[in-house]
Amino acid sequence: MNSQTKPTSFVIFGASGDLTWRKLIPALYNNYKKGRLENCTNIIGFARRSYNNETFREHLKSGVEEFSPESFDNDTWDQFAKKLYYKSGLFDNPDAYSDLKTFLQKLEGQQANRLYYLATAPKFYAMISGYLADEGMAKEDQSNNSWRRIIIEKPFGRDLSSAQELNQAIHKAFNESQVYRIDHYLGKETSQNILFFRFANTIFEPVWNRRYISNVQITVAETVDVGRRAGYYDSAGVLRDMFQNHLFQLLSLVAMESPSIFNATAIRNEKVKVLQSVRPILREDTVLAQYEGYKESDGVSPESNTPTYAALKVFIDNWRWKGVPFYLRSGKALKRKTSEIIIEFQSPPHMIFEAAGPVDCSQNFLSLCIQPDEGIHLRFEAKVPDTDQEMRSVDMDFHYRSSFGDKTLPEAYERLLLEALNGNASLFTRSDGIEASWQIIDPIIKSIESPGGPKIVSYSRGTWGPDEADHLLLKNGNHWRLGCIDFS
Ligand code: BG6
Repeated sequence: MNSQTKPTSFVIFGASGDLTWRKLIPALYNNYKKGRLENCTNIIGFARRSYNNETFREHLKSGVEEFSPESFDNDTWDQFAKKLYYKSGLFDNPDAYSDLKTFLQKLEGQQANRLYYLATAPKFYAMISGYLADEGMAKEDQSNNSWRRIIIEKPFGRDLSSAQELNQAIHKAFNESQVYRIDHYLGKETSQNILFFRFANTIFEPVWNRRYISNVQITVAETVDVGRRAGYYDSAGVLRDMFQNHLFQLLSLVAMESPSIFNATAIRNEKVKVLQSVRPILREDTVLAQYEGYKESDGVSPESNTPTYAALKVFIDNWRWKGVPFYLRSGKALKRKTSEIIIEFQSPPHMIFEAAGPVDCSQNFLSLCIQPDEGIHLRFEAKVPDTDQEMRSVDMDFHYRSSFGDKTLPEAYERLLLEALNGNASLFTRSDGIEASWQIIDPIIKSIESPGGPKIVSYSRGTWGPDEADHLLLKNGNHWRLGCIDFS
């Protein structure tokens, strides 16, 4: 549904920052180029730095050239740049909001919708939404159908109680239906495709349960280390940075029941139920690790026990999944960059072939490859020709690039910003979803941060993480699989 039916102002708080430059403006530019910004008439940057419209546009142009080189062209940019404005102001100055309001009204010249984007440090989220409400800028005008929406970046809270407080503060200013909490993993094409794969086909769903699935693995591995983000990262760690949001979102997409209809409420209801069914995670089902040399990075405390890697064994206590382990792992400075989900099926109940080959060769699995080689693979066993009973694992595969051409997949933000403009919140996290995921991760974070907490082991850079993570699976006779890499 398209709700850009009247002029819309897109207001970015924190517009002089990296996110605006690298992601938001390239995404808006690409949407514009595809003719999808119809009525998004003005894009207004608001931040402390003293740009004027011209210098702001120049700065943003370099971001599009750098991060979207394949779609950049000067003519389109010149057209698009006419939409860009800059207003400087301090987030903690109430007067700045009345100035901004006047500025917007003048620019709009008529009733307009407004989408506010908080691309600021998290400490400003509650403050900005409060001041917007004080200035009457959060209230939707029912008489003329003008909407007001707010997109909030991650991290949304540092733990359960701060997330609850933030939700309460935001709800004083905006109704939940106006709030769009962003998680860029939900904007990735391949994450969106999980629901289509499961619910637009008949062949997978009948086996998508504890009777046929032995275990599920979600890997989000990165080769980069914490780099220049050490200051932020050292107080966050991998559980807050990756698990609470991205990994748990993937988990809920894989494990959720079918919604009865494809809309934001129905989808998010089902996702939340999954998170609420996660059994408290035992310490023995948790592996936390730090890459060697992390403590020597600039901005990291020499005594830091922040995990840069974690592997968790998670159980979902419901009829579909009872007893099926979900193994989740993510880390920095690992061997390869890959985000993938493995659905591993059970072995045949009785093996009639004698030369069964390697121990696990009879296990079938599906790999949902989120990135970088986007696609889906199904691994199964085949008879090796010209042998008696020898068999080997082979692969049936789907690659986006071969099925849909070389056209690059859109950046996650491109889809997410469009959905927010169009009023579709399916790809955004609801307040109860955020709180449910903090509820799962909170006890682990608390235990790390209290004396006598779990051991943080170390791992060498360029590996797949510590041996302890392998043992976590071996206890159940499973091992990590990398279907997307193996078959890429
Ligand atoms: C971000 C994290 O949310 O996701 C980063 O803060 C991480 O630490 C990034 O590098 C990974 O995103 P992607 O899309 O590269 O997998």
